[in-house]
Amino acid sequence: MVDVRRIDQEIRDFYYKRGTIVSEELIDAILYSIDGGGKRIRPILLLQIVEGFGVELQQAHYQVAAALEMIHTGSLIHDDLPAMDNDDYRRGRLTNHKKFDEATAILAGDSLFLDAFGLLSLADLPNQVLLDLVQLMSLASGTFGMVGGQMLDMLGEGKKLEIFDLINIHSNKTGRLLTFPFHAAGIITQQPSSVVSSLWQAGMLIGHAFQVRDDILDVTADFDELGKTPQKDLAAEKATYPSLLGLEESKFIVQDSLNKAVAIFKELEEHNGFKGQDVYQLIESLRING
Ligand code: IPE
Ligand code: IPE
Ligand code: MG
Ligand code: MG
Ligand code: MG
Repeated sequence: MVDVRRIDQEIRDFYYKRGTIVSEELIDAILYSIDGGGKRIRPILLLQIVEGFGVELQQAHYQVAAALEMIHTGSLIHDDLPAMDNDDYRRGRLTNHKKFDEATAILAGDSLFLDAFGLLSLADLPNQVLLDLVQLMSLASGTFGMVGGQMLDMLGEGKKLEIFDLINIHSNKTGRLLTFPFHAAGIITQQPSSVVSSLWQAGMLIGHAFQVRDDILDVTADFDELGKTPQKDLAAEKATYPSLLGLEESKFIVQDSLNKAVAIFKELEEHNGFKGQDVYQLIESLRING
């Protein structure tokens, strides 16, 4: 069973047990955003898939999962900055730059991006596995993944984009970091390349669906459900799935992508001894009802 508290504990231990603290203020700002809640979907998926392949969860797995959550949280702190989406609330409380100040929020994000690799390096895994994870995490988060997608997202503001452009933005800004847990779980459990490739495909489907879902919820959900201000995309003239294709078509895309991802996992159950109970439950929780 995945113990979500252990993910948070690994992050906390990284900051308090690694050596002499340079700036207590910086760590306070980092942990403010980490402790703000959050669904922990990415690390949970990683751990559930590792377990699904029959591997008992060890500290090393929690460290990889925690590193991923650190990059994700850093991306949220920067995404909320005035120069980016300019948001006041995140995870049900004030955004990092509102609680502290802009410089602190920028630095807290910087720290989370870089510290993630420090934490990853501590994981007691075979050297080649660790090296592959470093490469995958960098590709998923940086210029060739999340940050690249965020750049496209900013350039797209106020423009009428084609669906092809939107797929590219969503797959990069959100899809890649959500694909990492699937891909990484395959690497950690040392699956054959055909299985790793299936996991990657499932991850891309879910990752893309996740951002379409986020776009839909921006229109349909309220502050209590989101923990962030709703209806921000329209105000910022963002290109989103609902704005381009309408709500119904967008909802269909979410359902369809999740169905396709489930089908991939069913195949893995049938042919590769994967046990997907927990993963299915999580995927089902991403469906949009009504
Ligand atoms: C929000 O991600 C940003 C997107 C990529 C859509 P989550 O919905 O996973 O946010 P938290 O971690 O639960 O706050
Ligand atoms: C988030 O996209 C993408 C990130 C890389 C953080 P959004 O800008 O739509 O996320 P929210 O709606 O602010 O959580
Ligand atoms: Mg954004
Ligand atoms: Mg945003
Ligand atoms: Mg959004």
